[in-house]
Amino acid sequence: MRELLLTGATGRLGRTVQKEFSKQWNIHPCSRSRGEDLTTLEPTDVVTDKIDFVLNCAALSSRGGCVKNPVVAFKLNTVWPKKLAIFCRETNRRLVHISTDLVYAGGLPPYTERSPAVPRSLYGWTKLLGDIAVQRNNPNACIVRTSILVGEAGAPMTTFSEDILSGRATHFHVDCFRNHTDINALAKYLSECLYSSRSGLVLAAAPYAMSRAAYAYSLLKRDINLIPAPDDIPHDLTLRPSKIIG
Ligand SMILES: NC(=O)c1ccc[n+]([C@@H]2O[C@H](COP(=O)([O-])OP(=O)(O)OC[C@H]3O[C@@H](n4cnc5c(N)ncnc54)[C@H](OP(=O)(O)O)[C@@H]3O)[C@@H](O)[C@H]2O)c1
Repeated sequence: MRELLLTGATGRLGRTVQKEFSKQWNIHPCSRSRGEDLTTLEPTDVVTDKIDFVLNCAALSSRGGCVKNPVVAFKLNTVWPKKLAIFCRETNRRLVHISTDLVYAGGLPPYTERSPAVPRSLYGWTKLLGDIAVQRNNPNACIVRTSILVGEAGAPMTTFSEDILSGRATHFHVDCFRNHTDINALAKYLSECLYSSRSGLVLAAAPYAMSRAAYAYSLLKRDINLIPAPDDIPHDLTLRPSKIIG
């Protein structure tokens, strides 16, 4: 049995990982609501001796949340991954860290692992700096960069498809393109990725991008309210993923 520290265990991806990972994994969940605030802790506080794999899904994951709490965003999305990367390198543990397509500006798609990343939000910047810190401090770590997650997660924060199907999302951007990625399929890939020796950045997402409106229509199959995306969010984040999910 492999022993895995899962940060962000109560989040959308963390919950899905707990559902999807096979019985080969013994998961040690970690999250703020369990009393483990990673902005104040060190890796030695949460990575016990028997743990040999770490999956970092903890993040301040909303653009608005990062603007409201910039210090927390920087500590959790940038400083924590850096500390974890150094610790995992020094103690020879396998680290997989999760990143986002919102590190790209949205003007020069399609994006690949070689594309320059110039975020347009504080969230994007804190995540990008975290990715760079992981790459620099732990060349064996893998950074899995994905797009907007869809599917049933059953977490306090909901996925885009959960918002559409519950009626919480009512207006949809016609001009904002993402590779809507199945959260369950991504979790399965993360298990594979932890076992593998893949290192560096990997774009792992659905094969094609579509507008958020087209995605909503594909689920609801009825007329929907179409709106243009505001100027301050990246419009076309089409990825050309090297790892196709789903
Ligand atoms: N959701 C998406 O569409 C999407 C798209 C692309 C990339 N990503 C990336 O995927 C990863 C997982 O995102 P997600 O959607 O699962 O996020 P989420 O649903 O917002 O969950 C965030 C997790 O981080 C934990 N957390 C927050 N603040 C913390 C702190 N100070 N100390 C310790 N833990 C803390 C939360 O714990 P509590 O619940 O206990 O607060 C929760 O378990 C992130 O790296 C995100 O950038 C997500």
